[in-house]
Amino acid sequence: MTRRFLFVLGSSRAESNTEMLARRAAEQLPPEVEQEWLSLTEHPLPDFVDLRHDSDHVRPTEGTVARLLDATLAATDIVIVSPLYWYSVSAPVKRYLDHWSGWLRTPGADFKATLAGRTLWGVTVLAHQEQEVADPLVGTLNNSAAYMGMRFGGVLLGNGSKPGDVLEDAEALARAKTFFARASEAPQDAPLAGFPYESE
Ligand SMILES: Cc1cc2nc3c(=O)[nH]c(=O)nc-3n(C[C@H](O)[C@H](O)[C@H](O)COP(=O)(O)O)c2cc1C
Repeated sequence: MTRRFLFVLGSSRAESNTEMLARRAAEQLPPEVEQEWLSLTEHPLPDFVDLRHDSDHVRPTEGTVARLLDATLAATDIVIVSPLYWYSVSAPVKRYLDHWSGWLRTPGADFKATLAGRTLWGVTVLAHQEQEVADPLVGTLNNSAAYMGMRFGGVLLGNGSKPGDVLEDAEALARAKTFFARASEAPQDAPLAGFPYESE
């Protein structure tokens, strides 16, 4: 199956360090790998309404929810491109992930079975120098991948505050060069994500 990367852009500003870092990493993907870039600012999702235990979610046929759902189902690799906001993902990204809970209950979407075995990746930029403060974001993505039966590609981290700062982070740019290297391998070579308690 052709690899198809969906980059979900979750910054709340146009000149996004996180997008710049993600684009550096994506430049290294082989040309046969398809790429789709979707900005949650250009495709704003409505607030998620939890109908899981009241009635079935109905599959959307138009609008941004349908656009994001279709793009997500079509992707072999989903890359969450989120700045670190309050130590976790940005609100637009969180809302996108909340919609996954509805899509899991949407008849005909086959959401969980389709995403199982596919790979979730993350790219984030933070102002803080000590990168372990991004652990909550890393945990959110790892645990979400584990819940979905997905593989977890890891999170590419960079530092920066104002737009363009990340382009001065030589270590992050070096990591970007090889971040997606595993995507060139057979997908089954990457391990399935696990919850932290499963590795003890
Ligand atoms: C709402 C908000 C919350 C933020 N929270 C954090 C944070 O918790 N830790 C941190 O190191 N930087 C934080 N920052 C700084 C951003 O992560 C930093 O400016 C980053 O470069 C933004 O990436 P972007 O250009 O892709 O939007 C925050 C910025 C904003 C606007």
